[in-house]
Amino acid sequence: METADENAWHAWLERETPIIEDRLRNSVPSRRQKPANIHEAIHYAVFPGGKRIRPGLSVLGFKAAGGRGKAGAQLGAAIELLHTFSLIHDDLPCMDDDDLRRGRPTVHKQFDEATAVLAGDALQVLAFEQIATLPGAADRKVKVLAMITEAVGTAGVIGGQVVDIESEGKKVPRKTLEWIHDHKTGALFRASLVGGAVLGGAGPALVRRMTEFGEAFGLLFQIVDDVLNEVGTFETLGRDRGGDRAKGKATYPSVLGLEKTRLALNDAHRRCHETVPVQGKSEDVFRGLVQAVVVRLPEDWVPSNAGRRNGRPR
Ligand code: IPE
Ligand code: IPE
Ligand code: MG
Ligand code: MG
Repeated sequence: METADENAWHAWLERETPIIEDRLRNSVPSRRQKPANIHEAIHYAVFPGGKRIRPGLSVLGFKAAGGRGKAGAQLGAAIELLHTFSLIHDDLPCMDDDDLRRGRPTVHKQFDEATAVLAGDALQVLAFEQIATLPGAADRKVKVLAMITEAVGTAGVIGGQVVDIESEGKKVPRKTLEWIHDHKTGALFRASLVGGAVLGGAGPALVRRMTEFGEAFGLLFQIVDDVLNEVGTFETLGRDRGGDRAKGKATYPSVLGLEKTRLALNDAHRRCHETVPVQGKSEDVFRGLVQAVVVRLPEDWVPSNAGRRNGRPR
């Protein structure tokens, strides 16, 4: 294969899926356990889930760093629970007020608001239970724990969500937009990959390269999410487009306009390919992931991959 396409990611993730799903199932109480309502809601939100990119990144980082065994999947499951918590709360009426996610009613619509708030709270605690029980050396685990708490807290996802909400209906500079995206989205992607790598025994140089890729990838991902909200289909979005515009959200299209957004998207895409942190077998998986994200866009938005041998700029 000359150019790694999205199938390199999908095929790899499919092979890792049974262990990731198994870990996720073991991370949450059964749906019949009392009080059953909240456990039903947790299962509804976690299964069958979405694209599972974050747990995939944890396993990828873990294995690329030489890790063996299931610790990467366990960290990935913890992070997916945290991601799910952030989505449930993001959809609440006091936040983005969305009725649909992944083509089905959001948790507060399917259950009720109190259950949605509490299910999110519970997912956060369940995630840290998984991190606390990770196998392997204690010093690595503590490092990973510190990284994940920072990535989810007010220096990460939650901080990003605060500024996202504060910026609604306002004209914000590009710097603020980039800050929002880096925190609400980039931080957890970065922590998924770098956390996995640290757990797998990565040294400082690999950690630095993984961090750089994670930064570029987080930005690319959120620009794509913003663009899809303007031009995507119901099938790709899992809800109708136009929600961000209706809420006056700070997005790439709203702050920069579509043409500058296209340039930023192409830049972020190029940067991802330039910062792929490893060579050899995993390299194609990283490049495939980058492509898997951009091919969700309508064809005229997909950045050109031409001129890259194995995705590397020539
Ligand atoms: C959605 O993330 C939230 C953002 C950070 C834009 P994903 O698009 O990864 O969500 P799922 O889990 O695949 O549905
Ligand atoms: C979601 O951002 C980020 C988090 C949930 C932390 P958005 O609000 O842009 O994501 P979607 O489009 O609802 O998934
Ligand atoms: Mg939001
Ligand atoms: Mg939202």
